[in-house]
Parts: sequence; C-alpha cells; structure tokens
Amino acid sequence: MEVDEVQRETAPETPIVANPNANIITERNAQIISGGNVFYNPVQEFNRDLSIAVINVYFQQLVKERAEKALKQLQRQQKQQNAETPLSTPPPIPSYVAGTQYEDGLRILEALAATGLRSIRYAQEIAGVRQIIANDLSRQAVESINTNMEHNKVAHLIESSHADAMTLMYLSTAPQKRFDVVDLDPYGCPNRFLDGALQCLTDGGLLLVTATDMAVLAGNAPESCYVKYGSVPLRMKCCHEMALRILLNCIATHANRHGKYIEPLLSISADFYVRIFLRVYSGQAQCKLSMSKQSWLYQCTGCETFTLQPLGTVRSKSAEQPHLLKFGLPTGPAVNSRCEHCSHRHHLGGPIWSAPIHQTSFVQQLLEAVQSSTSPLNALGTQRRIVGVLSMVQEELPDVPLYYTPDKLCCVLKLEIVPMLKMRSALLHAGYRVSYSHANKNSLKTDAPPAVLWDLLRCWSKRHPVRENRLIPGTPLQAILSQPCSRDYEFDELHGEANPSSRRQVLSRFQQNPAPHWGPGTRATIMIGENKLPKSYRNQNKKQQRHKAAQQPAAHEDDVDELQARQLNEDEEDHQLELEEQLPAKQAKLAPTA
Ligand SMILES: C[S@@+](CC[C@H](N)C(=O)[O-])C[C@H]1O[C@@H](n2cnc3c(N)ncnc32)[C@H](O)[C@@H]1O
Ligand SMILES: [Zn+2]
Repeated sequence: MEVDEVQRETAPETPIVANPNANIITERNAQIISGGNVFYNPVQEFNRDLSIAVINVYFQQLVKERAEKALKQLQRQQKQQNAETPLSTPPPIPSYVAGTQYEDGLRILEALAATGLRSIRYAQEIAGVRQIIANDLSRQAVESINTNMEHNKVAHLIESSHADAMTLMYLSTAPQKRFDVVDLDPYGCPNRFLDGALQCLTDGGLLLVTATDMAVLAGNAPESCYVKYGSVPLRMKCCHEMALRILLNCIATHANRHGKYIEPLLSISADFYVRIFLRVYSGQAQCKLSMSKQSWLYQCTGCETFTLQPLGTVRSKSAEQPHLLKFGLPTGPAVNSRCEHCSHRHHLGGPIWSAPIHQTSFVQQLLEAVQSSTSPLNALGTQRRIVGVLSMVQEELPDVPLYYTPDKLCCVLKLEIVPMLKMRSALLHAGYRVSYSHANKNSLKTDAPPAVLWDLLRCWSKRHPVRENRLIPGTPLQAILSQPCSRDYEFDELHGEANPSSRRQVLSRFQQNPAPHWGPGTRATIMIGENKLPKSYRNQNKKQQRHKAAQQPAAHEDDVDELQARQLNEDEEDHQLELEEQLPAKQAKLAPTA
C-alpha cells in the first residue's frame, strides 16, 4: 500500500467539531490547552495544513529515493557477483501510518514551537515519523508543549526542548544528530536561524521557512531589508513574489557558504506572510550555478518597467559534452541609462532569486495527494484553499520571474483598465505566453517583452483615448503614447487559454480576510491565556511599561527566560521606535552650529 493510502490510526470516527471547553483550542484532531502567555494564531491553519501535506509528500518521495538507491546498490553487488538475473524493480515500499513511530521515519525539528500545536499535528498527521523535537526558548511555551503533547497522547513521538533554537541547531550538526526536516516559523524575520538550520539538515533534507515581516520584504524599508536579507527590494506591484525571491536568495547564499545548495519545492505568498519549502543538498559543483540563479533588478522610476540582469551566465562547453559547464559574466547593464520607453532613470534592486520558485513535479504530487479521496490530506481544514492555491502555482509560468498588473500599467498611461481576459487574449493571440501568479489576483506574468505590453496599450488607447490635457511633455504617458502602435492586437476574441482552468473551475484561489483583526500576531499580540486587546490600546505607553517591568527584579529563572524570548521578538519593533525617537536628536546634532 502507498503511504498516502494509509488511514491515520489516530483519526477518530467523528471529528471534534464544537469545543465545549472554552480553555481548549481545537485544530483538526489536536487540542491545545490554553493557559500562560503562549503564542497561538488560528489564521495560520493554512500554513500548518500545507506544511503537513508537503512533509507527507516529501517523505513519500524520500522513501522512493531510498528504494531506488537500494536497488542500484543491489544491482552493483549482483554485477560484482556475476548474478544471472539481476533485479530490475526496487524492493516494495513499506507502508507508514501516522501516529506510529518508525526507526526509518523522519526526524523533525520544530525550532520555534510555541504551544506545540504544529508538532502535535505533525505527530498525528504525518505518516512516517521517527521523532519530533518541539523546541522553544520560553519556559512557559515548553510547559505548554509538555501539557499538550500528553493531552494529545503523542508523547511517544514528540520530545520537548527548552533551548535557544540557534544553539540547539548548532549542537545538532554532527551527522547522527541531524534532522530530515527543520521548520522555522518565527515572528518576523527568520534570518538569524538560517545558518544553523542549513547545517543541521541531512543531505536532501527539507527546510520550511516562514517570514512575516512583509513590510520589509515588500519594499517599505529597503535599508532594513538589505540588513536582514542582503537584498534591496523595490516598491513594485509584484512585491509578494519579490518577497519570496528575496527570501530564497537569502537562504541560497547562506547555504552556499557551507557548500550546500537549495532546490525550491514550493514558495507561497499567503495572507500576511511568505512560506518556503525547499530541499537542501551538499555539493560544491552545484553551488557554482548559484550566481546564474540570481539577478539584479532594474525598475524604471517613470513607467515602472522592470528588467532583470543575472549575476552570472552558464552554458554547456559543447554539444558533445553537455554536462561540462562554462561559467561567465554577463555584460551589462541590461538597461540604458534612461528608460527606452519613457526616458526616466532606473532604480536598482536585488539581487533576487530568478530561477524557478516551485518544482512542478513536486507540486503535482502534492495536488494529487490533497485531492485523493483515499488520502487523509483530502480532509485538511483548508484543503479547498490548498487545492486552489496549488492549482494556480501549477499554472504559473515557471521561467518568468515577477509580474505586472494591468491596472498599474493602465494607471501609468491614465487609460481605462483593460479587462484581464482581454489583455491575456491579446497577448496569447500575439503569440506570447501568459499566466497569473498565486501571489496576486490581478497579476500578469508573460514572456512578452515590456515593449510589447506598451505597444498593446497604445493599441488599446486608440479605442479609449486619453484626454489631450493629460499628454504632458516629460511624463511617461506622453513618451509612451506619442509613439506609433506597431500592430493591431486582438482583444475581443477570447483566446482558448485566456481563462485558466483554476479560474474556470472557480477554485478557492485567493483567501478572503479570514477573521477580524487578523495578521501575523507578531510578538505578544496573539497569546493564549491573555485577553486580546486592540493593538492601538495595548501599545499605549508600551515603552514606559516595559521599562518599569525591567526595573523590577525577575521572580525566578523562568521569568528571565520569558523575558529573553519576548525581548528577542520585540527587539525589531523597539529598534524602529528608537530610530524614530532618535531622529530629531540626531538631526539636531548634525545641524550646523551657529
Ligand atoms: C510564531 S511563534 C511559533 C508558532 C508555532 N510554530 C505555531 O505554528 O503555532 C514563535 C515562537 O518562537 C519562540 N522563540 C523566539 N525566539 C526564539 C529562539 N531564539 N529560540 C527558540 N524559540 C524562540 C517564541 O517564544 C514563540 O513561541
Ligand atoms: Zn520607463
């Protein structure tokens, strides 16, 4: 029997629907007992569900890879022994059941576990687990993990750990201590955990990373993004995909330092965060390809046309020896000093990851697993949304990084917005490929060069002319619309591929706001056992209150731990606050004295 056909032993016949006990939070079959100030964010159920699906499918893949490796080894031995009929099929794949421990199962580290909900769900819902380490820096969180794993009867699979995630990961780099799966789900930015996580993973191991500091990743504070992620973001409509590509680039460069390289399986922008699933391999030779998977990003300050320039080039040395590669440096810059469309200057951002962000074959397996009526993954709470998002991911053009949005393009030219299906049809009729991105419902990915997009809009403007008084010399609008339209584009005849399957089937592609006041719940905003107050109210006199608390001696060691954990999470916010507070003083200091 295949792994995904196995029913989970722990699945009760009737799912727990209502929660009669106000102190118990239920997600699938996991129950979390509230108490203490421990982080729990219900909106992240999609993140947890998707992670469960990914780890299950990853394990199925790993089992197959192991079987193929075993077969190859056997065949080698048989060849040495001159066997008459060598084996040609791999040995049968064993079946695995969720909730049971397997010696050859996965060792999973949840480095920042809070209540342990995620680890408990992994124990209950992942078929093929050897051990899960649920770690947190906060003692209260670890107490909560212990209570919850006992309550859910998964103590045979989970071991709690009270440590700084970084220390724990650095202490787990010896081959026998490594993990097959490391899950990083921090508040905000995961950068400080990457180095340790990459080193404590087995070869081919799975890394799951969440980042919730979207304002930074999406270009609101380029200087902070550069400090944290080593890339300069630009303010663009495609900021969510850019966020994914900045995080991927950051992980890839961290990996390269240790002679490792990454293979993204799935990269998702959802709600208020990004979540990346990738495999990490060792191999100096493959690391050399990294340079050609990264690009600088030029963006015109007038019309916002973007252009990518790879940091490196790679090609086969000859057709006879395609595996021998030649690395090179591209010539540039990829743009003129002034934009070829509107004559404005450019901003330079990046580097970003410009290779594919998903692995098509993996996403296909994932999609099949969550849709299979015999798989427990079919019953995930957010299954409908997972199917919708994965279907869109499968439709994305894998070789076209980033996207435009028709509304922004039309806004530059002050044009009536071209309806999406008309725009897609026109491009398809003209011989180009198009797709949406799962990251934005108005996204337009296309291999059509920007010159074609502007040409197409010039053609559209003939039907919907711009008012004369808007054609002001020096504006992108005037520069672009003053050029002749090179051809007629077919907007009206709907192209067969204009309406993609995920849209035709009305799949759940984009999430509505799942709850009032929803968000990342960074720092102490979503704590079990704490009455939720509106953020604005709670933040009043926050600095003074914290200062007061710091003056009081800690009651015992636990309080110090808790304080440390909180402090780490609040550092970021404080820093921003301090910068803002110091700014007038600094400006005063810098001002020339009379
Ligand atoms: C966003 S929550 C984790 C949520 C959890 N993964 C889930 O799915 O419910 C972040 C947790 O990281 C913990 N934390 C912060 N810094 C840490 C560190 N350096 N080492 C270990 N845990 C840390 C916090 O105490 C908090 O419980
Ligand atoms: Zn321009």
